[in-house]
Amino acid sequence: MTTSLETARLLLRPFTAGDVDAVHAYHGLDEVARYQYWEPRSRDEVAVEVAKWMEPDGKPEAPLSLVLAVTLRSTQALIGDMVLLFRDWEARQGEIGFSFNPAFAGQGYATEAANAVMDLGFGHFKLHRLFGRCDARNDRSWRLMERLGMRREAHFREHALFKGEWDEEFYYALLSREWADLRREAN
Ligand SMILES: CC(C)(COP(=O)(O)OP(=O)(O)OC[C@H]1O[C@@H](n2cnc3c(N)ncnc32)[C@H](O)[C@@H]1OP(=O)(O)O)[C@@H](O)C(=O)NCCC(=O)NCCS
Repeated sequence: MTTSLETARLLLRPFTAGDVDAVHAYHGLDEVARYQYWEPRSRDEVAVEVAKWMEPDGKPEAPLSLVLAVTLRSTQALIGDMVLLFRDWEARQGEIGFSFNPAFAGQGYATEAANAVMDLGFGHFKLHRLFGRCDARNDRSWRLMERLGMRREAHFREHALFKGEWDEEFYYALLSREWADLRREAN
């Protein structure tokens, strides 16, 4: 399969070694790392991550993860990354994740990219269910999942410690038949 996806305004493509500075421009920021399981990354740390993202993870027909660079078709600028994690191939469960450069926020780019990745997960990989998790305080993240049509399935109250504080976590999910209904409604 091809791991490049085109949408109206975006090209999602595999990472290259030349992407390190563009990723560091946002993975190095406090506001991007705040609700992630990592602290703001140095350029060297980003280089290690990008090298991992460039390597195939698992078999092509049943990968373990896929990380795609989100670029603008108009300028080729790298504006974010989308992650698709294959959590259980037998039950066809997948998880999506996303990080975008705040310089490109508020224009619907993350929504457009995430829709393309959901199409890939449900369409190409025939997933049964896709879910996403976020800190309950990360309103941009859960609002994005609501825009995607995902359903809030859980709110875990103080279930863990996260960066020294009680963690409040939302789970969102969508089933493949619900995704198909949404696609039908959109067309
Ligand atoms: C989560 C994250 C990707 C969301 O980014 P975002 O800019 O809010 O999302 P989008 O790019 O889809 O833009 C949506 C906004 O653009 C507006 N918009 C403009 N044109 C739009 C279009 N064509 N389609 C959809 N929305 C559009 C929406 O109304 C929305 O505006 P609002 O912020 O006033 O509600 C971003 O905040 C981020 O990377 N955060 C840091 C990393 C992180 O926490 N990741 C999640 C870990 S769980």
